[in-house]
Amino acid sequence: MTRLDRFLTVDDFMKVAERRVPRMFFQYADSGAYTEGTYRDNSADFGKIRLEQRVGRDIAGRSLTTTMLGRTVSMPLALAPTGAAGMQAADGEIKAARAAEKAGIIFTLSTVSICSIEDVAAATSVPFWFQFYVRKDRDFNERLIDRARAAKCGAIVVTLDCQLGGQRHKDVRNGLTVPLKMTPKFVAEMAMKPRWSLAMLRTRHRTFGNFAGHVPGATTVAALAEWMSQQDDLTLTWTDLLWIKKRFGGPLVVKGILHPDDAREAVAHGADAIIVSNHGGRQLDGAPSTIRVLPRIVDAVGGKCEIYLDSGVRSGHDMLKAVALGARAVFIGRPFLYGLGVAGEAGVDRVIDIIRAEADTTLGLMGETDVTTLGAHNIESNDLIAPHGH
Ligand SMILES: Cc1cc2nc3c(=O)[nH]c(=O)nc-3n(C[C@H](O)[C@H](O)[C@H](O)COP(=O)(O)O)c2cc1C
Repeated sequence: MTRLDRFLTVDDFMKVAERRVPRMFFQYADSGAYTEGTYRDNSADFGKIRLEQRVGRDIAGRSLTTTMLGRTVSMPLALAPTGAAGMQAADGEIKAARAAEKAGIIFTLSTVSICSIEDVAAATSVPFWFQFYVRKDRDFNERLIDRARAAKCGAIVVTLDCQLGGQRHKDVRNGLTVPLKMTPKFVAEMAMKPRWSLAMLRTRHRTFGNFAGHVPGATTVAALAEWMSQQDDLTLTWTDLLWIKKRFGGPLVVKGILHPDDAREAVAHGADAIIVSNHGGRQLDGAPSTIRVLPRIVDAVGGKCEIYLDSGVRSGHDMLKAVALGARAVFIGRPFLYGLGVAGEAGVDRVIDIIRAEADTTLGLMGETDVTTLGAHNIESNDLIAPHGH
């Protein structure tokens, strides 16, 4: 039995990550916008769905294998783009991408990652996906898309629900700023997390890798931070998807869909897939949980593109519930960040293994053998469907 075998759930990882990672960065991950109501609902609503149990069937040969945009994956799970994952553990994005590669699932790199597109490409041998935040600076946008294409990223994931940032009170209270201020409180905090601090001192990846050195004139961290803070493009609309897809030249995934009409818009503007997401409850507080709106979006899309879901997935059970309700796959954000915080790459390996084992057993106990055949017949009750029609 290894040390990590004692971790049985994603929650176990969360509790230990809280002790290992400086409070400022742990809470950056474990927080939602404003009241955190949507953050809580995301997970809680999965618990309101009941699965059908069927027995008397041969469940010896079970398969979780499926495809995402034509690529075979070992289960319907992918790692979501998360900014500054390299602050949960040194070189966090590289470690998570390697874990995903070993597990046969897709890793998605955030625009605001610590390790750059090129760093992750050099450390991996299968294509990862790249999440793109559109900036005001058109030249920068084009260069970033070109870098993702040059790194042979398998898809570009355009996030639409983050033009303005929902406030996370914990981040404000912790004084989380870019660039970081070395306050006495922060220095004391680092001294209490020696393993984290030593690893951070050893790596050269400590700033936003996709920006540093790629913004003409921004030669200091302060100048780069100033430039970044002025780059939110509030004028972004559906039509921008067309030039992004054309420039990238590969599949387009649109992230941040919560409304059936927006799902239709995404399809009409070239989306090969959408991610039903409320950003893990970090943006519009009061928005519905994703599992609640999924069935309406599946109806609206009518099979015209692949549909994924994230926000609140914490187990193999959650993953199968989403698939039964029409998602082709789910993404996880915080669960793998907690894994990184506890034990780096091995922690992410273990989080993925836990979800896989839960899903495999659950599939069998449902009386099913093939994840791709799950559907409404596997759901015994779902009290979440909104009463109003869309
Ligand atoms: C710490 C953190 C940083 C995130 N950064 C990004 C980001 O840079 N780009 C993005 O599209 N989504 C970002 N997200 C949202 C995730 O991609 C995903 O939608 C969310 O984490 C899913 O919810 P979960 O954490 O409950 O699994 C971030 C989420 C977290 C927790």
